[in-house]
Amino acid sequence: MASCRIKISVGWSLTQIIAGMMIASLSSPSLASPTLMPRPAEVRFGAGFLPLPNGLVADWQGCRSDRLERAFSRLERDLAVRTGIEPQRLGRVGAAKLTIRCGQDANSLGVTAKEAYRLETNLSGVRIDAEGPDGVLRAFATLIELVEIGPAGAQIATVDIVDHPRFVWRGLMIDVARHFISIETLERQIDAMAAVKLNVLHLHLSDDEGFRVESRRFPKLQGVAAFGQFYTQGQIRELVTYAADRGVRVVPEFDVPGHTKALLTAYPELASVPAKPGSGPALFPAALNPALPASSRFVAQLFGEMAGLFPDPYFHIGGDEVNGALWRADPRSAAFMTKQGLSGPAALQARFTEQVRRSLSAQGKIAIAWDEALDGGLDTSVVMQAWRSSKSVALSARAGHAVIVSAGYYLDHLLPASSLYAVDPFDVTAFGLSPDAYAEAKRGLAGAFITDAMAVDPRLGLTPEQEKLILGGEAPLWSEAVTDEMLGSRLWPRTAAVAERFWSARSVRDADDMSRRLVATGELLNLLGNREQSSREAMVMRLSPGDSKPVLTLLDASAPTRYFSHNHTMRSRLRGAGPQQQDFNALADASPVDSAVITRFDASVDRLLAGDQTAAPELAAQLHAWRDNDARFAAVAKGHPALEAALPRSRDLAELAGYGLDALERLSSGKPTAGDWSLRAKALVSRLNAEPAASADAIRSLVAAQPPADLLLPASAGVGRLVNAVHSQ
Ligand code: ACM
Repeated sequence: MASCRIKISVGWSLTQIIAGMMIASLSSPSLASPTLMPRPAEVRFGAGFLPLPNGLVADWQGCRSDRLERAFSRLERDLAVRTGIEPQRLGRVGAAKLTIRCGQDANSLGVTAKEAYRLETNLSGVRIDAEGPDGVLRAFATLIELVEIGPAGAQIATVDIVDHPRFVWRGLMIDVARHFISIETLERQIDAMAAVKLNVLHLHLSDDEGFRVESRRFPKLQGVAAFGQFYTQGQIRELVTYAADRGVRVVPEFDVPGHTKALLTAYPELASVPAKPGSGPALFPAALNPALPASSRFVAQLFGEMAGLFPDPYFHIGGDEVNGALWRADPRSAAFMTKQGLSGPAALQARFTEQVRRSLSAQGKIAIAWDEALDGGLDTSVVMQAWRSSKSVALSARAGHAVIVSAGYYLDHLLPASSLYAVDPFDVTAFGLSPDAYAEAKRGLAGAFITDAMAVDPRLGLTPEQEKLILGGEAPLWSEAVTDEMLGSRLWPRTAAVAERFWSARSVRDADDMSRRLVATGELLNLLGNREQSSREAMVMRLSPGDSKPVLTLLDASAPTRYFSHNHTMRSRLRGAGPQQQDFNALADASPVDSAVITRFDASVDRLLAGDQTAAPELAAQLHAWRDNDARFAAVAKGHPALEAALPRSRDLAELAGYGLDALERLSSGKPTAGDWSLRAKALVSRLNAEPAASADAIRSLVAAQPPADLLLPASAGVGRLVNAVHSQ
């Protein structure tokens, strides 16, 4: 942040300074530094705290605007929620001064918005000095993380933070087509995004299952293709404004020419001939027919209307998973390809994409497309969203395209935060099938879906010039198996780990430290209004009326199986068994991907094995709770199939906890193990540790048998370490 002015002279009132020093000196310094996520570029904590008995009062120095004043009001509300200060006291005499200075930014909310800031708190007040208004928003997000309740009430840690993002594009994609997501739920996600400094909400607004935006020009889109669930144009405008207020851009995606079954239900005259059984992968049942001039006209007119609703210059046109067999089977497309000298479906798609790109460009829009669009050649102004494997990051950048990296960040794959966190956008081998896994998958049941694009190429890398083309990344959440109710818990707190990957320096990589902070960040997000925790609890209450505690205890020790293993509709379709209706009312739907209980358990195991005996009582309490939960779970499960399906899991957890308790006792008493205890304990731990293998990648997850109730028991790792420690005495 070379141009950020950091020297500000502010006139603090003497009474404020004295009052501050007196109260500050009464508060004892906190033992742990406050949790910051994403981790800022530079942080220097001071000693002591600035008391905030009546919150903050803003002193605007040059960049006051309605937008920033609204942001300050939200900051005050968050401060009240975080500390319990009654809102009417905020800003009264004794409130600490928050001096806010920022430069102008003609590109505010654009892809090059100035987001760098400096945040200084000392015993006399708080200062923000930002390059532009968006930097003030980022500073406010950091500020709320620094606030806590100390012995004398609300306080803020003294600190000097200098911060700026690594990538300009830090996105989250939400699929609102497969399951419709309400505006209210989306707004809560925008709040959470802003709290972790994500700045792009990519909405996947159309797919085979629905078209979700009102069109005045093509009203059958909401009348027929939305199946009753869509956003009005007014709602879209409000959502875009809501996001802009929080420094979040909304980028729309209308997927063409594939993933258009819903659209083509409304306008069947634009379709290629319907898929015949056996003519191609059944998962991709429909595509526009690009050989028809009416198709290009329709898309140009529709996108013209939709582009007017979304002010962002970027507009996503989809382009993924087009079933070329539909075009080969369609006499009109086949004749068109021959006449135009097009070598096949990829070339036909490229021609169509170029037409769409030109029509968007005429409206000042930059097209984004999923990486398949590169296969037939493409104008370099199109931004590629790399998803099939990290290889496409390299291929796209080599071809001169700006790139958004999504390979490795799919949230619907239900991988733990540490897996997503380990993927760096510059690492073009980070995600994809190894050459051996590719060969095996090609021969398997899902071989028809496997393409070379899904395999990594260990020989590829990025030059410094190519790295400059990487705009950043986006974590997608596809919603085939995610309802409105589940959305928050499928996103948070995991997405905060991805947000850190996109914001913080590449060298910030300590997964254990991230996991510890993720727990605190999850708590903060819940406190600020994200309902990740309460919506899970509501789902459990519904499953287990009257006594949900035993179910929650089991779920907090669990994780859902990964990738598509819990997508029963997709699994049965792949087996040719036809679609199967799935209710999202199973325990796996409420199971946390990164359980805070497990994170704490694992951290206590670390401490104990490092010699800290104070960890033993916590571990014992947790293990007793798991062991004793089984009888209670069995009692509430009786007669409820969704719960009964998890009975074997509950028994496994109890048995595992029993071995954990034995191990703790033997570690403290030094008593040798008796009989085959060690063998039995290790056999159970190995069985549970091996279970994630059945859903270790997309293909296995679709075909392999899964553990009961599609639940994993990640406590096995920590208990396994306790058991091994006994053995090695
Ligand atoms: C995609 O996941 N089909 C882009």
